[in-house]
Amino acid sequence: MPETDYPLLRAQMLALLRDEPDALANASNFVALLYQALDNVNWLGLYVLRGEELVLGPFQGLPACVRIPLGKGVCGTAAAGRVTLRVDDVHQFPGHIVCDAASRSELVVPLQAGGRLLGVLDIDSPSPGRFSAADQAGVEMVCAAFCELQGARADFI
Ligand code: SME
Repeated sequence: MPETDYPLLRAQMLALLRDEPDALANASNFVALLYQALDNVNWLGLYVLRGEELVLGPFQGLPACVRIPLGKGVCGTAAAGRVTLRVDDVHQFPGHIVCDAASRSELVVPLQAGGRLLGVLDIDSPSPGRFSAADQAGVEMVCAAFCELQGARADFI
């Protein structure tokens, strides 16, 4: 499987979003760009923190569950702990929330700016163990750049 060039992806993302102030447009292009850049992925999108729950934002893939309480599922657990979760086999993750039954592995990265939790990026693959430590580091790096750009603006999405 070809590896993603994350520094190139970061540069492409900044070029695409830098001059556009609309948060929703930028979030939508962010997920579309990442979805195209990652192989073997069946769902990729944002969940945005609204009060004490995550609410579905822009995404690519099948329609998904809309609301995830903090602490629930892979996304809610990552958000509550503000920690990236890389799950090699979602069937082994207690409380995993099934949105697309084809999903077998998952990477969830919390999105934070200035100490504020904005939401999470969720990426699903139909292959167990799809995401390596290098993918995690690369996606975290791209997300940090996205948050630095978007988090500084009035609304995140
Ligand atoms: N599997 C996630 C739910 C979101 S969908 O995968 C798009 C979870 O357990 O939080």
